[in-house]
Amino acid sequence: MSAELIDGKAASANLRETIAAAVAQMKADHELQPGLAVVLVGDDPASQVYVRNKGVATEKAGMRSIEHRLPADATENAVAGLVRQLNGDDAVDGILVQLPLPAHINSARIIEEIDPAKDVDGLTEASAGRLMLGKPGLVPCTPQGSIILAKSVRENLSGLSAVVVGRSILVGKPLAMLLLAENCTVTMAHSRTKDLAAVCRSADILCAAVGRPRVIEGDWIKKGATVIDVGINRIEEDGKNRLVGDVDFDAAKTRAGAITPVPGGVGPMTIACLLRNTVIAAARRRGLAEPLV
Ligand code: GUN
Repeated sequence: MSAELIDGKAASANLRETIAAAVAQMKADHELQPGLAVVLVGDDPASQVYVRNKGVATEKAGMRSIEHRLPADATENAVAGLVRQLNGDDAVDGILVQLPLPAHINSARIIEEIDPAKDVDGLTEASAGRLMLGKPGLVPCTPQGSIILAKSVRENLSGLSAVVVGRSILVGKPLAMLLLAENCTVTMAHSRTKDLAAVCRSADILCAAVGRPRVIEGDWIKKGATVIDVGINRIEEDGKNRLVGDVDFDAAKTRAGAITPVPGGVGPMTIACLLRNTVIAAARRRGLAEPLV
């Protein structure tokens, strides 16, 4: 048996096309061009690549991309001041502060400065609280993309057993909330979980968001399960630089019903969902009907 591959690249391209159409409609109906501001502090090479990709995708979707780069030694007050300035700028509908921030900056304080109406990363306390309470808000992008991919192969997740491995604020916790909202029976597992293998074997939907290469072994996968691998880990193997997930893909695909590859699975969905949040934020801030994206 070999699992169906869940094509995140194709799903992302699809979603971005729908978003571009919604943006064009907003321009035609309201002369409105949504804008996404990205703040990058310092010169971390991976962050620079992410920020560049976000800018390109934003413009391709017909939206305005605003980039602010601050030096690695920028003060916390300088970053907070920039966020407040973006909060007050009506041309900015979404604000994303690229993480991680340099160690001398308190990330939690900076995130709390973001106006929840513009919090397209879904990381403020207000956004997290809304998700927890089941109220409409802006939902973190990677969990949102994970749900879209799971539903692309299992239309109805209701009643299924879902296991999320990893409890980060960016992925694990919000993903568990979204699965609960889909009426899954959700288990959150993490580094202290006893008999992680047995917990994983109970999962109809297994989501791995650990950040360590191939820690989820092939025989931990229930036969026919849907596997959503959120990990993107860079490793050296056979003298080559490779990207691998948190799941041992080659072993898992012999047991899973469907599985996301790395790269080309959840990764491409994150930017698409960021654009989606930006369009939604632009409509909501102005009291316009929410585009169907
Ligand atoms: N760094 C890595 N992933 C993310 C993300 O989703 N949002 C932000 N703000 N920073 C990140």
